[in-house]
Amino acid sequence: MDHRIRSLSEYTQAYDKSVENPEEFWGEIASSFQWKKKWDDVLNWNFKGPDVKWFINGKLNITENALDRHLETRGDQVAILWEPNDPNEPHQEITFQQLHEKVCQFSNAMKNNGVGKGDRVIIYMPMVPEAAVAMLACARIGAIHSVVFAGFSANALADRINDCGAKMVLTSDGNFRGAKTIEVKSVVDEALEKTSTVEKVIVFQRTRTEVTMKEGRDIWWHEAIDGVSSENEAEEMDSEDLLFILYTSGSTGQPKGVVHTCGGYMVYTYYSFLNVFQYGEGDIYWCTADIGWITGHSYIVYGPLLAGATTMMFEGVPTYPDAGRFWHACDKHQVNQFYTAPTAIRALEAHGLEPLEPYKLDSLKVIGSVGEPINEEAWHWYHLNVGKGNCPLVDTWWQTETGGIMISALAGVTPVKPAHASLPLPGIQPIIVNSEGNELTGKNVEGNLCIKFPWPSILRTTYGDHERCRQTYFSAYENLYFTGDGVKRDHDGYLRILGRVDDVINVSGHRMGTAEVENAIDEHPKVIESAVVGYPHDIKGQGIYAYIIAEADGIEDEIRKTVTELIGPIAKPDKIQLVSGLPKTRSGKIMRRILRKIASGDVSNLGDTSTLLNPEIVEELKSGKV
Ligand code: WTA
Repeated sequence: MDHRIRSLSEYTQAYDKSVENPEEFWGEIASSFQWKKKWDDVLNWNFKGPDVKWFINGKLNITENALDRHLETRGDQVAILWEPNDPNEPHQEITFQQLHEKVCQFSNAMKNNGVGKGDRVIIYMPMVPEAAVAMLACARIGAIHSVVFAGFSANALADRINDCGAKMVLTSDGNFRGAKTIEVKSVVDEALEKTSTVEKVIVFQRTRTEVTMKEGRDIWWHEAIDGVSSENEAEEMDSEDLLFILYTSGSTGQPKGVVHTCGGYMVYTYYSFLNVFQYGEGDIYWCTADIGWITGHSYIVYGPLLAGATTMMFEGVPTYPDAGRFWHACDKHQVNQFYTAPTAIRALEAHGLEPLEPYKLDSLKVIGSVGEPINEEAWHWYHLNVGKGNCPLVDTWWQTETGGIMISALAGVTPVKPAHASLPLPGIQPIIVNSEGNELTGKNVEGNLCIKFPWPSILRTTYGDHERCRQTYFSAYENLYFTGDGVKRDHDGYLRILGRVDDVINVSGHRMGTAEVENAIDEHPKVIESAVVGYPHDIKGQGIYAYIIAEADGIEDEIRKTVTELIGPIAKPDKIQLVSGLPKTRSGKIMRRILRKIASGDVSNLGDTSTLLNPEIVEELKSGKV
C-alpha cells in the first residue's frame, strides 16, 4: 500500500482520521511492514507516568523491514550512495543486496565478539557507510546502539559510555573532515581509561592514522569480518524493546539518554520520510546531517531505508574543497531531495553566489531545512538560489525526543510560507499553552508548544532515569508533552517556531544546555562562577556568551580549552566577559534575562532591576560587553 499523501485534501482527510481514530490510522500504516507476530493493541498510553506503548506485543526486526523486505523488488537498487570527504576519491554505491550482506556479516562479527540482545554499543565513527552498517547490525541482533557524534571529547564520550554501561565501542582510526585529519581512536582510548564496562573495541580503518591496539580488547573491523558468514537470522524484538539511546542536552545537568523503541519508531520515520519529502521511485535523497544526531538516525538511515529509498551519505563539510561542494555533489549524483540545516545555508550564503555558478541544480525537486529556526533571509536565499524558486522548501520542526518530523509542510502538497514550519503531520496534535497551562486557541496567538496525544515515535524514557523524563517533558503541564519551544500560530493557522523557552541554546543546529557549558567552565581552577547565555549570531543562529567571575585575568583561551576537553569544540564560548559579579536576586538566583539582553546588545530596556541583590553590577556588565 502506498501511504503517500498527494494533495491538500488527502492531507486533511488523513489528518482528521488520525485524530478521530488514531489506532486505526496507525494500525493501517503499520500493517504494510513485516511483523514476526502481529500486535494485540495499537496503543496504550498515559502522559502521567509517562507510559506509552505502541503495537503492543508485536514482534519484529526493523532491519528486516529496512533491508530484507526490499531484496526481491529492489535488491540491485542503490541503498547507500556515499560521497567521500575528498571529491577525488571514488564515491561508493551500495545496493540493498550488498547492504544486507554487510549488515548480516557485521552482525555475526559483533556476536562473535560477545555482544547480544539488550547490550549497549557505542558508535563513535565518521560518516562512512560502515557507520550505518554498525547501527543496522546492532538493530539486527537486538543490541541497543548509542551513536556519539565524533566531535565530542573523550570526557563526553566516557560520560555516555558510563551512563549506558556500554559493552562495545565501534570506532575508526581517524576521521577526514575537510582539510583536517582528526584522531578518533586515541580519543576512545582516553575515554576508556575512565570507564570499566567496555570489553571490545572494533576499529574501522579509514585514515591509516597510526593507532595503538590494545591486546585482547581492540580488533580491526576488516579482521573482525574476515571469513565471517553474511547470513544472519534477525533477532525477534518486541515493539517496545529498545532500539537506541541518543544523548541530548537539556536545561539542567548532564545530557540525558533519549530512548526510542523498535515498532513505533519504525512506523513513524517511514511515514514521515515518505510524506514530507514526497520521495518517489528512483529518486536520490540527500540529508547532510551527521549520524551522531537524531536527523542522521531518522532521515539518513532508518526512514529512507524503510521506504526503500536511495540515501546519500556525505563524509565531508560544506566548504571543502570550496563553498560549492554541496552543489557539486547535488549535480554529480543528480540529487532530487536535499535536506540541510539553516546554519549551513547561512554559512554558504556568506560566500556569495559565485560558488553556485558552475552548477545546474536542476535535478532538485524538494529542499528541506532542520535543526533551528530558519530566518526569512536565509529561507529566500535557499529557495531562490538552490531551489531556483520552484522547489518546495520544507521547514521541518522536530526534536531528538520526537524521533521524527512533527510540524512541516508536505513538499508540493502544503502551500509553504517563509520561516513557518506550517502544519502538523497526520497523527500530531500540537497545542499552544500560556505559562499557566491554559490552551490558547484561535489565530494570532503565541505561547509554549505542547503535544497532547502520543505519536508512534515519542520518546519512551530517558535511559536509567524515568523520573527525569517525567520531570523534563511531562510535568510542566498536566497531560501534555512539553517541547521546550515557543511557537506562534499566525492569522492563517500556520505554526512558526520561535525557539527555545528554556535554558537550552541552539548553536549551529546543535543543542547545548547552558548549565552543561557552565559546569565545564567552572572546572577551570581559576573560575569562581559562571553564567552562560545565547546571543544572536549571524551564521550559527545562536552563539555562546559566557560571563565569568575568575581569580585571574587573561584566561579566556584556557577556559575555552577546558570546555573543549570536557565537552568538545562545539561547546566553546564565542564570547567571554570576565566580570566581578553576576546579577542575582535576593534568593541567590542569577537573573538570566538581564544577561541575555546585554549579550544580545539590547540594553535599552533591562526591565526591573530593583529586586537585585547587587543592582550596581548591571552597569559594569553593560560597559564591559565583548
Ligand atoms: C530546534 C533536531 C525551528 C527546536 C531535529 C527544537 C527547530 C530543537 C527546527 C531540537 C525548525 C529543530 N524550526 N526550530 N525547523 N528544528 N528546531 O533535538 O528548538 O537536535 O526543540 O533535534 O531544535 O533539536 P534536536
